[in-house]
Amino acid sequence: MAASRTRVAVLVSGRGSNMAALIEAAKAPGYPAEIALVVSNRPDAGALKTAADAGIETAVIDHKAFGSKADFEAAVAERIEAADITLICLAGFMRVLSASFVERFAGRIVNIHPSLLPSYKGLDTHERALADGVRLHGCSVHIVSAELDAGPIVMQAAVPVLSDDTPQTLAARVLRSEHVIYPRALAALADGSARLVDGKVLFDTQAAPAEPLIWPTIG
Ligand code: GRF
Repeated sequence: MAASRTRVAVLVSGRGSNMAALIEAAKAPGYPAEIALVVSNRPDAGALKTAADAGIETAVIDHKAFGSKADFEAAVAERIEAADITLICLAGFMRVLSASFVERFAGRIVNIHPSLLPSYKGLDTHERALADGVRLHGCSVHIVSAELDAGPIVMQAAVPVLSDDTPQTLAARVLRSEHVIYPRALAALADGSARLVDGKVLFDTQAAPAEPLIWPTIG
């Protein structure tokens, strides 16, 4: 079983709570992926200690140490290829990857984004959702394409927006759902139950819940 697990690299820049959720999920004996490498572009990322404490190989590739984005990305790509990685998970990785990097790992880079895409691409998603007064917000796991936050969607989770939410309380609620769907989406991609076909992600089987998620509930 262990020998056939999909080898995954996680790219981080910060605290790494999504990375930690992936590491935790991958401890389960039947989980189809293993976190084989964690790469940070920031030497001070908290994620590095979490990964090292879990016994995972880490690498710091500091973008500031390179003369160009192309050189930085070449170093990241070489490190990933040297570790025989199949899937790359971005988890709070705060560098926008170039089209050539995305092409080099086409269909094999996955990201978690804190909104229900295609709404709220980019930064400050919680602030913008609150400003718009949406009742449902959430997160999306998607395949990375050259266009920012626009690649095929793998899995989404919706959460209610409460009247007294601040960007911080909403972010915390969304983050809890990120930690649920990222490991599930990675498992589905790793075991082949989700596949990229003609620019969309198809699942083998799906069972729709009987009830829609309605918020707010009345009465
Ligand atoms: C998460 O909200 C993720 O959706 C976004 O960046 C944040 C990273 O948080 N891409 P963490 O480092 O995983 O805790």
